[in-house]
Amino acid sequence: MALTAYVPSIPQPAKRPASRVQPAVAQRPSKIALLGFGTVGRAVAEILCREPRPELQLTHVFNRNVQRKRVGWVHDSVTWTQDVNEILNSTADVVLELIGGLDPAYEFIRRALLSGKSVVTANKHVMAKYGPELLLLAHQTGQRLEYGASVGGAVPVLTAVQQGLSGDRLLRICGILNGTCNYILSNMERNGTTLAGALHKAQQLGYAESDPSDDVNGLDAACKLAIVARSAFHAQVNAFHIPRQSILEIQPADFRYARQVGCTVRQVSHAELTGKRLCASVGPALVPLNSALGNSIDNDNAVLIRGEKSGDTLLAGKGAGGQPTAVAVVSDLLSVRQGSGAESPSLLTMLPIAPVKSAHYLRLSMSGKRSGVISAVRRILADHGIGISKVLEREGKNTLHAGYTLQSCSPATLNKAAMQLSKLEGVSQRPLLLPILSTHIGDK
Ligand SMILES: NC(=O)c1ccc[n+]([C@@H]2O[C@H](COP(=O)([O-])OP(=O)(O)OC[C@H]3O[C@@H](n4cnc5c(N)ncnc54)[C@H](OP(=O)(O)O)[C@@H]3O)[C@@H](O)[C@H]2O)c1
Repeated sequence: MALTAYVPSIPQPAKRPASRVQPAVAQRPSKIALLGFGTVGRAVAEILCREPRPELQLTHVFNRNVQRKRVGWVHDSVTWTQDVNEILNSTADVVLELIGGLDPAYEFIRRALLSGKSVVTANKHVMAKYGPELLLLAHQTGQRLEYGASVGGAVPVLTAVQQGLSGDRLLRICGILNGTCNYILSNMERNGTTLAGALHKAQQLGYAESDPSDDVNGLDAACKLAIVARSAFHAQVNAFHIPRQSILEIQPADFRYARQVGCTVRQVSHAELTGKRLCASVGPALVPLNSALGNSIDNDNAVLIRGEKSGDTLLAGKGAGGQPTAVAVVSDLLSVRQGSGAESPSLLTMLPIAPVKSAHYLRLSMSGKRSGVISAVRRILADHGIGISKVLEREGKNTLHAGYTLQSCSPATLNKAAMQLSKLEGVSQRPLLLPILSTHIGDK
């Protein structure tokens, strides 16, 4: 796929000197206008109203049909509105965008910056697609744009990459960035349930949306990976170019097979610089049972950041939920207030993306006529030069599963072999291929 350098085209706002904290604001609280009174917006408002901080003052709440959102514990001085122009024309210093989605959130953020307000957002969709353009606009208007809550909930992944580890050359990001998939897979592992059963439970507990497509197909995690990779590798990364695999094909048998080689299954987001390319992927993978990612359960997030000199740094914790995400949002509000942590908005070169090369796990499901299938599998793998590391113990009565671990080879070779395997008589489903990733701290 031919990719071009990313050059944002934006309207030229009135030039203002780039200042981090306006002196007048330093003498009084920063006025905060909140857009979106949903799960996260409400949790942020609770922190600002119930545990007030002298430096942050909630002045506006914007939402569609706002009357039904009113609550008694928000101070009477706060203006409730469904007219975004009232926010943009107000004296608010910071617009806090917690509406979600691309439209109208992108336009609201853009207009807020153009009207001289800093912006804090938790919106991974907007920041994955329009991040460089909006950061440049923030720089040109002398405002701040912070988006720490868009990745990792309360886990400060972006802060670590942009500040704590920014003195190193970062080489790899590998982690669990989607709490919904982590809940589903860790539940399947612990309770032996089917994916449909674990998803249903996640929905009942409010960990998964009624339409969980973007979680299970990896798009949500790919947006977050693109945002982190952009900061870590100082390059533009298109979330839609990152190869993704859905978790929907994972069966309870895959956890039993994985255990035979000391592993479990997690949705892993992986991005690694190799020369001038970024090897990246999002999808289910085998990870060691006793590793940081293998130990991550429920809707937690866990991320390993590898630096040239710092080695591996592990960050783990609550990756989603109103209150944990609100903590990240309030931290960003304080950072805007203190004038710390701004990201430089330099023009970024688009990094070409390639799939990750690794050892793989293969599972074939067979029904009916099975004789000769196993020897045919060996022959097809050998024809493609794919070595078998281990034949896993077979299982199943009506549907027989056969599991293998395969030596490292290129994803293109694997796909060709998988195509042939799926045509074998007796093979009832598309063969499942999952990368086996080493996620111990310090592993090569
Ligand atoms: N929830 C989490 O755990 C979590 C974690 C990390 C990041 N985030 C991010 O945080 C942001 C907010 O998420 P959330 O979970 O709080 O979402 P949410 O519960 O759906 O809240 C969104 C709020 O915005 C309002 N809204 C949506 N579209 C609007 C529009 N066009 N005009 C006016 N108001 C509108 C909604 O009003 P209605 O009530 O009318 O729908 C709702 O009150 C998203 O970007 C999300 O990705 C969430």
